[in-house]
Amino acid sequence: MIEKVEWDSEFFSRKIGRLTKVPQGKKLKNLIHQAHNKGYEYLSCRLILDKIAEIQLLEKHGFYLTDIGIVWEKKIIKNISNLKSQISNSNIREATGKDSPMLKTTVRGLFKDSRFYNDPFFTKKEADKVYQAWVENSVEDKTIKVFVAEKSGFITCKRLSKNRGDIPHIGVIPKSQGKGIGTSLMHRALKWFKENGVNTATVRTQANNSIAMNFYKKLGFEVKYIDMTMGLILSMELKKKA
Ligand SMILES: CC(C)(COP(=O)(O)OP(=O)(O)OC[C@H]1O[C@@H](n2cnc3c(N)ncnc32)[C@H](O)[C@@H]1OP(=O)(O)O)[C@@H](O)C(=O)NCCC(=O)NCCS
Repeated sequence: MIEKVEWDSEFFSRKIGRLTKVPQGKKLKNLIHQAHNKGYEYLSCRLILDKIAEIQLLEKHGFYLTDIGIVWEKKIIKNISNLKSQISNSNIREATGKDSPMLKTTVRGLFKDSRFYNDPFFTKKEADKVYQAWVENSVEDKTIKVFVAEKSGFITCKRLSKNRGDIPHIGVIPKSQGKGIGTSLMHRALKWFKENGVNTATVRTQANNSIAMNFYKKLGFEVKYIDMTMGLILSMELKKKA
């Protein structure tokens, strides 16, 4: 019920795990001890918000809130020619490896609402670096398509299954926001999904990011569910209880 989060463990140089299912009462306490004995320094757990009893159990065992997420979904029903006309005026193209330095600059400071900035386990410096690493990896990752709006924004698209796709990240630099670039990037992503047989797109945003929520609503996304991410710093929690 605890799985190692390989990428995070390597990136933060600390063993990080994810609780995939919340066991009842004493079993959770034992699981936390086992995790500590196996060298885990941190555990996270993400639950859909209707699981209040499980959230309260996690709190009882020292887990704290790091993030409330809204998962949005959109059926891609428009035909490709319509989407094409909406992006024809903007300068959007596929990213290549050469765009990594530009993307790393673009991403700096854009995702301050994210859980990494609100979780005492991570330093602000680490939180800053994580998005730079993600965007760089996305360009190299064959399962992710990245589109860029020259020096002003980007969007990443990931195919989840035959029909479903996800937008892990979208960002427009502050001085270019509010000019329709985010909308054009999203239309480009939806067009790519449609061309590749994907007819349902999802995107997750933090509940404290009202600008992004308005943005997705305007683009026709609908709320699918709300989730909560909890974190537990193992060394601190066990020290407190000793
Ligand atoms: C969310 C984001 C990508 C939007 O990009 P953008 O280029 O500024 O968006 P657009 O100009 O295409 O705006 C489209 C719609 O979004 C909404 N919107 C955009 N900026 C807004 C703001 N400051 N306040 C309220 N609504 C806003 C509006 O409904 C707008 O439509 P309108 O111009 O007709 O009012 C951009 O704000 C951003 O990069 N934010 C930081 C990173 C981030 O939060 N990414 C999403 C993480 S899940």
